[in-house]
Amino acid sequence: MMEITAVLGDITEQQVDAVVNAANRAMRGGGGVDGAIHRAGGLAILEDCVRRFPSGLATGDAGWTTAGDLPAQWVIHVVGPNRHAGETDRSLLLSCYSRALEVADSLGARTVAFPLVSAGVYGWPLEDAIAAPLEVFRSASTSVDEARIVAYDATAYDVVRAALVP
Ligand code: AR6
Repeated sequence: MMEITAVLGDITEQQVDAVVNAANRAMRGGGGVDGAIHRAGGLAILEDCVRRFPSGLATGDAGWTTAGDLPAQWVIHVVGPNRHAGETDRSLLLSCYSRALEVADSLGARTVAFPLVSAGVYGWPLEDAIAAPLEVFRSASTSVDEARIVAYDATAYDVVRAALVP
């Protein structure tokens, strides 16, 4: 049974096997979590992105790179739906989390930290940006032992905590 945990903090500081990045289809860095991960992990992540994803990644999909200088071993990049670009299909958001777990399993990652994909620049409503991963995690068949949701501010953390109460 995978344990679902929540912390308030910065995803780049998590001591886990893999951290998930809320990337974009171009896979060449950006703002938010993506910017923080590339800054803290160093150029090795971008170089690996260029090598592994020459034409980027589709919305809802996941793929991995090195984590460079981060404490984690891998970065699992996902591309969440961008509501501002008309991507309102919720299955794309669910797919980010299920694909990330599949990639984690393929790597043998047992502890994985997740940001709230699409909850920032991409404009997904916070409540559902939290409900979606919980739905996936609670029904997932995976070898991952811990899925850690990393909330970046107190409001998001409180909503995650409340949603975790059985
Ligand atoms: N650690 C944990 N969570 C964070 C951090 C951090 N260091 N920084 C921000 N968050 P966003 P998206 C939270 O915008 O909505 C980028 O430019 C933030 O408060 O990072 O999927 C990409 O390149 C929010 O709750 O991702 C894409 O173009 C959540 O992480 C685009 O933004 C996600 O916010 C992706 O947008």
